[in-house]
Amino acid sequence: MNPNYVRIFDTSLRDGEQAPGASMTSAEKLEVARALARLGVDVIEAGFPAASPDDLAAVQAIAREVGQEPVPGRPQAEPPVICGLARCTPSDVVTAWEGVKDAKHPRIHTFLATSDLHLQHKLRLSRPEVVARAREMVALAKSFCADVEFSPEDAGRSDPLFLYEVLAAVIQAGATTLNIPDTVGYTLPDEFGALIAGIIAHTPGARDVVVSVHCHDDLGLAVANTLAGLRAGARQAEVTVNGIGERAGNASLEELVMALRTRGEKLGLTTDIDATQLCRVSKLVARSTSYPVPPNKAVVGANAFAHESGIHQDGMIKNAQTYEIMRPEDVGATQTTLVLGKHSGRNAFAKRLGELGFPLEGDALAKVFAEFKKLADRKKSVHDADLVALASDERAPAPALWVLEDLQVACGTTGLATATVRLRGPDGVRQVQAAVGSGPVDATYKAIDAVVQVPVVLLEFAVNAVTEGIDALGGVAVRVRHAESRPCHGHGADTDIIVASAKAYLAALNTVLARPGAAHSAPLPAVASA
Ligand code: KIV
Ligand code: ZN
Repeated sequence: MNPNYVRIFDTSLRDGEQAPGASMTSAEKLEVARALARLGVDVIEAGFPAASPDDLAAVQAIAREVGQEPVPGRPQAEPPVICGLARCTPSDVVTAWEGVKDAKHPRIHTFLATSDLHLQHKLRLSRPEVVARAREMVALAKSFCADVEFSPEDAGRSDPLFLYEVLAAVIQAGATTLNIPDTVGYTLPDEFGALIAGIIAHTPGARDVVVSVHCHDDLGLAVANTLAGLRAGARQAEVTVNGIGERAGNASLEELVMALRTRGEKLGLTTDIDATQLCRVSKLVARSTSYPVPPNKAVVGANAFAHESGIHQDGMIKNAQTYEIMRPEDVGATQTTLVLGKHSGRNAFAKRLGELGFPLEGDALAKVFAEFKKLADRKKSVHDADLVALASDERAPAPALWVLEDLQVACGTTGLATATVRLRGPDGVRQVQAAVGSGPVDATYKAIDAVVQVPVVLLEFAVNAVTEGIDALGGVAVRVRHAESRPCHGHGADTDIIVASAKAYLAALNTVLARPGAAHSAPLPAVASA
């Protein structure tokens, strides 16, 4: 392998999913995993199998479907490594193996804290006990799986001499990757670089394994620290799409990849990422987690290539390099208008969807094609982003327990906003309810509540234009909480934003209802039924 090759380890589905409320359904996780494979990541951390039976099932599905298949759009490439996280306990390690064992290239990633703070207050273990447990659990993982990663949690605040000792022990036990996390995003780039250099220089066996870096963004330094670690000799970077993750998040995949590329001459490091897919994957993850991308986000934000001031615009017209260090097309930020119209054939449509990463066939294709025709009737031009919105709904649908069939809203400056909804329930029976609200969305949500009868608190409601223009598809993301459980989110897209809002809310309620043990009372008698 090229000594300057940096393995990209994506942990959006594990550390990223730990962001509050970012939980994804299994179908969404599978969709994101497929997109990551197509993007060219080397390792997908698919989840934490011991966390719940759902997590285990999602990791198994990814191992079977993404970890074995040829990579869509890259048929010559090997499928990515599929990794499952485990605490240093026998049952976690066994469950992680259950999760990943069907992948062509499985990996178990086990971790144990090494900072004195964590040893004393969290683990209540002595240093020798930590060394022994790490060694035993890596050996157990190795008895199942050739590829074993070990992380000394809170390495950024650990005594380097103790780190060398633990890491030497896990190398002897069979670890093939040593991942060094700055768990709380505390270190500065020069410190983190020195930590990695010290580990490589002083840990017996470290030069024979892959050293990896995993940086959190509490001080906004995650990408800078990751780069410092790579410059000091690490050759795997653990990142998430859009930088999602615990608290302030993880190092952002797209920022790291574009820094390595744009400053390639200085850094001399390469990856196998197809950067032209970065914007598409960013949108998919934003949508699947309902974590919108801020407009000023580097690389993938809506304004990353926008130029507002006259001086900048003048410079751009004369030579784009005056104010752009990357080209929008390099990261897939250009909006391709579909040259197909409403009279276009299904084959050309299917081909474009395939190029966008949605190789749909049969009923799924027919359904998205029908939606496309409806959209083409309503909209002047249909963009790739519109297609991605339609196709993602089909590929990773929220559980369709309740389906919106009809919505009528009356609102304006005079009178009360009133909404009437007709929903089809899980048993196929249609129910109609009407409600009055402070505005059209409020009225719609009240009418839906009257049918579905699952009490939730609306935590977040956000509207985004999927594409530009007054006739754009509006994308609505909502996050709701039912009782004490983790928040659920839902997404809906339509040219009518009230319809999109209704779809998003219903998707979130359906996700709540699909959770094991979700309680809901019997529906109210309908105002009318049809
Ligand atoms: O931040 C961290 O320490 C982690 C470990 C599990 C690698 O996510
Ligand atoms: Zn982490």
